[in-house]
Amino acid sequence: MKEDIIRISQQELENQKIISESFKKLEQRPQTYYIVTFGCQMNAHDSEKLAGMLENMGLRAAPSREEADFVLHNTCCVRDNAERKALGNVTWLKEIKKEKPGLLIGVCGCMVQEKGMAEKLLKQYPFVDLAFGTGNIHQLPQLLYQAAASRQRTVCVPENQSTVAENLPIVRQSASQAYVTVMYGCNNFCSYCIVPYVRGRERSRYLADILHEVDGLVKNGCQEIMLLGQNVNSYGKDLEEGHSFAQLLHEVSKTGIPRIRFMTSHPKDLSDELIEEIAQNPQVMRHFHLPVQSGSDRILQMMNRRYSVQQYLDRVDALRRAVPDIGITTDLIVGFPGEEESDFQDTMELVRQVGYDAAFTFIYSPRTGTVAEKLPGRIDPAESTRRIEALIALQETKTKEVFERMIGSRQSVLVSGFSKRNENQITGKCSRNISVNFEGDASDEGKILPVLITSAGKTTLRGTKISE
Ligand code: SAH
Ligand code: SF4
Ligand code: F3S
Repeated sequence: MKEDIIRISQQELENQKIISESFKKLEQRPQTYYIVTFGCQMNAHDSEKLAGMLENMGLRAAPSREEADFVLHNTCCVRDNAERKALGNVTWLKEIKKEKPGLLIGVCGCMVQEKGMAEKLLKQYPFVDLAFGTGNIHQLPQLLYQAAASRQRTVCVPENQSTVAENLPIVRQSASQAYVTVMYGCNNFCSYCIVPYVRGRERSRYLADILHEVDGLVKNGCQEIMLLGQNVNSYGKDLEEGHSFAQLLHEVSKTGIPRIRFMTSHPKDLSDELIEEIAQNPQVMRHFHLPVQSGSDRILQMMNRRYSVQQYLDRVDALRRAVPDIGITTDLIVGFPGEEESDFQDTMELVRQVGYDAAFTFIYSPRTGTVAEKLPGRIDPAESTRRIEALIALQETKTKEVFERMIGSRQSVLVSGFSKRNENQITGKCSRNISVNFEGDASDEGKILPVLITSAGKTTLRGTKISE
């Protein structure tokens, strides 16, 4: 199953420059772009790279989809509703294209990489001009040039997704917070999950490349980075350099970046070395996302998660012993094939026991080509809805307990902008990744400020600014 990793060389990037120059000379070229992004942080970050390449080609960001000459949909397919949403958005543009024949419509991301999807787009979506996969986003300049110059449909989805493209231009959403990919792909093949099929095998970036990127961010005043990977604990296992994820955290902190976050960790690979590093490193934020998926050993086994409930709880204990103020969040799936009421009650019990800060809850969605798709015992949708509602209600009471314990505490908050509800209030995340709203103004944006927590809402904390 191992594919050879293709590291995109400087030469390829020089080619991009040449293509961009030719593109700028095209008479009927798109002048503005708009990217619609679905899915997780990986996709959000890929969109920043897509925007970077488009700007290098001379395109400017349009204020809305309706005003853009080129609309690119960066899609997700982790659950059926994500996929339907993406296709719905693409179809919606069909009408706009009738009035604006020059409009170029592009589709990329995980959904395009699904088996059979390229053919489906070609047949059933004749208004789509351009499609490419997750493994070849660096080819956007070339493909867009081709589509714009020939006005012919351009679909290029590679079988091999094992690329690592360095030095792509990036247009970042925020100056103070940045995503930094540390590895691509996933080798875990949880039985329900499509990600390994659409993102390819695990491949790590070289430590030097990561450090170089973070150094640049620090020089530009960045306050916080989020290190990204489907399973960051596997960082480096495919490299000869031999650095672990814990060592990577240690090295990254030497750049002087004030705050470090990371996502996501698989419980089976959460090492003592990593826990130790978090405990000793004040730049690493006190938040750990540790998806458990289910509280039933039987279901965990069918999910191919490769840990038991007890092993998971032992990891949570070890984390809390070493870092007492750490906030833990999780992902949970209900309605996995064959999930009995007793399995679901085991999940409820686990949620009661761990006391998560927050949980992302999902109803199982069968994905084509995965092992779970073929399992018997599909759960009635109405029953899955009942289960997820009970789980959400339980988690709300647990979140409330966590929030109430935090009232009266002092938190460092990185201000990201204004509160949506009240324009005198600014908002940002504390170390535990919980939103805190407090009074402030535009000059506070991008700063890390000390805040006293005074009260708690349902999803946010409220506080007041205090002196150092
Ligand atoms: N690599 C990460 C994120 C994977 S996708 C991890 O392992 O945590 C994010 C979440 O979506 C998963 O944790 C899981 O809870 C959920 N998910 C993935 N596939 C799903 C499916 N087929 N149906 C329902 N939820 C799913
Ligand atoms: Fe999917 Fe499992 Fe990989 Fe996460 S670890 S991306 S849930 S296969
Ligand atoms: Fe992310 Fe969705 Fe792809 S969750 S990795 S964008 S399938």
